[in-house]
Amino acid sequence: SGSTGPSEPTGPTITLVLGDITEQHVDAIVNAANSSLLGGGGVDGAIHRRGGTAILDDCRRLRASLPQALSSVRAGETPIGKGLPTGRAVATTAGELHADHVIHTVGPVHSSSEDRSELLASCYRESLRVAGELGARSVAFPAVSTGIYGWPLDDGARIAVETVRETGAGTSVEEVRFVLFDETAYRAFEAAL
Ligand code: AR6
Repeated sequence: SGSTGPSEPTGPTITLVLGDITEQHVDAIVNAANSSLLGGGGVDGAIHRRGGTAILDDCRRLRASLPQALSSVRAGETPIGKGLPTGRAVATTAGELHADHVIHTVGPVHSSSEDRSELLASCYRESLRVAGELGARSVAFPAVSTGIYGWPLDDGARIAVETVRETGAGTSVEEVRFVLFDETAYRAFEAAL
């Protein structure tokens, strides 16, 4: 476990940890999910494996009620029928994880022809908004989109840190913990901080 970075006077403290997000003791763990909410590889696979079937059961229920779970559908978003739109976030139980909630967000697939940065920023913003609604005080994030979705780490780290800093005041979240799976990711976040 790692170092504490500078934090905005009014916003959450940002901490960096080298390790596995499924081992974190926090109020909410953010999952780098996909629109189906039915699981996958990477962080998503690890969360469902370690958290048990309660999370998937909750995801299935949530999928069926997504129009109610999401306050609105925005212009250009994936239709609700296809699952959770990119850049949005919803919460389920955390099952057997050492957390109260898992917040599932869908990062954008990286594209070299189209700038999807705003969607990646939205993942952090929306996850923090949901965390705030749940009254969570500590939230663990993975480096969303930087694995299977191919987002360059340095840029993904910059967007993550900037977006959390911009969120600043007006959230119940006191600690945002970025949990980085390897040294390279850890160093990218350190540089961004
Ligand atoms: N703890 C912390 N970080 C991890 C862990 C872990 N246990 N496992 C991987 N990482 P990814 P994405 C890092 O691929 O790019 C799934 O199939 C990993 O090294 O998990 O958003 C979903 O269902 C990388 O830096 O998520 C989607 O289909 C970061 O977490 C798709 O992958 C994110 O990698 C989402 O792709």
